[in-house]
Amino acid sequence: MASLSRSLSAIGCRVEDLHPVALLRIFYLAASLLILAIQAVPALRSRFLAYGSRVTGVSGRKEPPAQQQSALTRTLDYAASLQVPHNYFTHFYITSVLCSLFWAWRLHVWEAGRQQQIVWALLLLQGLRRMLESYAYTSTSKSRMWFAHWVLGLLFYITINMAVWVETPSNASGNWAFVPGVVTAQMLQHSYHSYLYRLRIESNGYQLPSHTVFPNLLCPHYTCEVVIYALLSLIAAPEGSWVNWTLVCATIFVATNLGVTAIGTKEWYVEKFGADKVGPRKRMVPGIW
Ligand SMILES: NC(=O)c1ccc[n+]([C@@H]2O[C@H](COP(=O)([O-])OP(=O)(O)OC[C@H]3O[C@@H](n4cnc5c(N)ncnc54)[C@H](OP(=O)(O)O)[C@@H]3O)[C@@H](O)[C@H]2O)c1
Repeated sequence: MASLSRSLSAIGCRVEDLHPVALLRIFYLAASLLILAIQAVPALRSRFLAYGSRVTGVSGRKEPPAQQQSALTRTLDYAASLQVPHNYFTHFYITSVLCSLFWAWRLHVWEAGRQQQIVWALLLLQGLRRMLESYAYTSTSKSRMWFAHWVLGLLFYITINMAVWVETPSNASGNWAFVPGVVTAQMLQHSYHSYLYRLRIESNGYQLPSHTVFPNLLCPHYTCEVVIYALLSLIAAPEGSWVNWTLVCATIFVATNLGVTAIGTKEWYVEKFGADKVGPRKRMVPGIW
């Protein structure tokens, strides 16, 4: 924050002068850059990005004996060992639902414009659905994630519930045509989560997924997530703009976060099941990537 403050004062701007819109956009873009920076450095990528299934059943880093490791390596290893269970994802959605309800009460959603009400309701639906899925689809898995991932996830769901209010106008025309798209993406994502859960409990250990809706994709649930936020950016467009730029920044964060995770997922599938079994399957974008 101190360096952000210095950088801003260098261009004649103080943190306290920044509008919430600017702060939210800076947060999403800075977090995206941080994820890309970690992804670019192998020593950081291997320790801090992989979570859940991707850190199980693979050979992992080849480390020298502990006494030969540098202080930096030991510090990084210690930081990477600060983990929480993967199923702490449930906390994200409890947080999201509570924030949705808090802002609804604080900003009188019942008196808000139709566009704000729709965007708020779609985000509440996303939080509620994911919360229920997290409870219903909890397996006995012991998989884990880095604690900073958990903190960043909480920050995302706290801020996204502000982001849907700060720029969305009360009564602009809005791109209503995209509302069915969000609902469809939510339904598809639900079907993929339910499939992964069945895969997890019906077999001993992880399997290579082959879902009927997306037979050629390894992470269709990630694709749905990005589509949901991208469509919200269009639905919440202010008057005179075709898109809500604060939600576009949030979408960039989601796409970066999940894109990097999808890269690790494909590497893990190749290592675990073999390149021949994974074949030409794409990560998130049908037929392209
Ligand atoms: N908005 C955001 O920035 C953001 C960020 C991250 C995630 N998300 C969303 O949260 C949802 C969950 O994400 P995630 O990263 O936790 O997904 P994930 O790693 O694919 O895991 C989802 C569930 O499926 C299980 N699973 C994964 N691969 C499997 C396989 N090959 N065989 C059997 N079971 C398997 C996992 O088991 P384990 O519990 O054993 O790992 C976990 O229970 C996604 O829809 C994603 O879009 C959103």
